[in-house]
Amino acid sequence: MFTLDLFKPRCLSIDLGTVNTLIYLNGELVLNEPSVVAIRDEPGSLEKIVLAVGKEAKAMLGRTPGAIEAIRPMKDGVIADFTITKKMLQHFIRQVLNQGFFSPSPDILICVPCGATQVERRAIKESAVEAGAKNVFLIDEPIAAALGAGMEIGESAGHMVVDVGGGTTEIGIMSLNGVIYAESLRVAGDAFNDSITKYVRSKHRTVIGENTAEKIKEEIGSAFKSSAVKRKTYVGRSISTGLPTEFIMTNVQVLEALREPLATIISAIRTALEQTPPEVSSDIAKSGIMLTGGGALLQGLNQLIKDRTNLDVRIAEDPLTCVASGGDKALEMINKNNMSFLSAE
Ligand SMILES: Nc1ncnc2c1ncn2[C@@H]1O[C@H](COP(=O)(O)OP(=O)(O)OP(=O)(O)O)[C@@H](O)[C@H]1O
Ligand SMILES: [Mg+2]
Repeated sequence: MFTLDLFKPRCLSIDLGTVNTLIYLNGELVLNEPSVVAIRDEPGSLEKIVLAVGKEAKAMLGRTPGAIEAIRPMKDGVIADFTITKKMLQHFIRQVLNQGFFSPSPDILICVPCGATQVERRAIKESAVEAGAKNVFLIDEPIAAALGAGMEIGESAGHMVVDVGGGTTEIGIMSLNGVIYAESLRVAGDAFNDSITKYVRSKHRTVIGENTAEKIKEEIGSAFKSSAVKRKTYVGRSISTGLPTEFIMTNVQVLEALREPLATIISAIRTALEQTPPEVSSDIAKSGIMLTGGGALLQGLNQLIKDRTNLDVRIAEDPLTCVASGGDKALEMINKNNMSFLSAE
């Protein structure tokens, strides 16, 4: 017997992140995978064959033999490889839709960085249409992040959100479901990893890979000075001997390594505040700044921002899922009230 559920419209909210892709289907988190694709060159053709996507492909990063390559198609906050991004998006959409015979086409909302170009926006839209979407909506990441963090951005009052992801840090100031100010910096979690890698190379004369840099950041990383000392031993390859070697990192060293990218983020937050109309500024002075994205989990980042802005800084309850869950809320609002969300441009 058919159930009515079979004909219920399906709504997908996708956070196509540089590091992680998350999908909500009708209010439920159904996919959380690294944005990584393993590909192989097809001899005699320009076409690349996709071997694995997501977790399976991430395990191959830095470990692939000659003809196989594991890549992050959206490295550094931009779509570095259109074709592979499209293939990855379509793979994930098909995975969660698991299309049945009578399944109606879904509505798909995709969160994009506010700095995404028109060409990038069109390419993302096309990918979703090709993957079987009925209607495709795009929403700026800061709006989705704010909604997901539970901010009431429909009010006539300014709200500020800082989403520190992997590729980009998005700074948004919003009111009445629209963006008053938006800035997208290509400095976020990936840049933190790069700075740690460079520091270990020069200070410890040791080469480390992306995974080790990320481990150091998550385990003993710190953005604000603290009296507690954390230290841990890690393994890399010695520059002088070329052999595996152990080295000790402390939270103070990570803080030193992260000085530059953190200063860039702080300066962008201060610029945003300086350029905000005074009425909105006074709203933000009351409501503070909401931190979202995986970078919000960097120890002490909230304290650093608080120290440099004199504003109250809160970390969203689940910073890694905010954008996707906010997109899900936006879809519900679009469907119920036929409303739209305005970009800064
Ligand atoms: N505990 C932690 N401490 C510091 N950084 C963390 C922690 N957990 C996750 N991260 C970082 O968060 C980043 C991923 O966050 P997120 O999933 O929000 O990014 P994304 O949405 O894929 O990227 P973007 O929004 O830039 O496209 C990674 O750089 C990861 O290293
Ligand atoms: Mg993100």
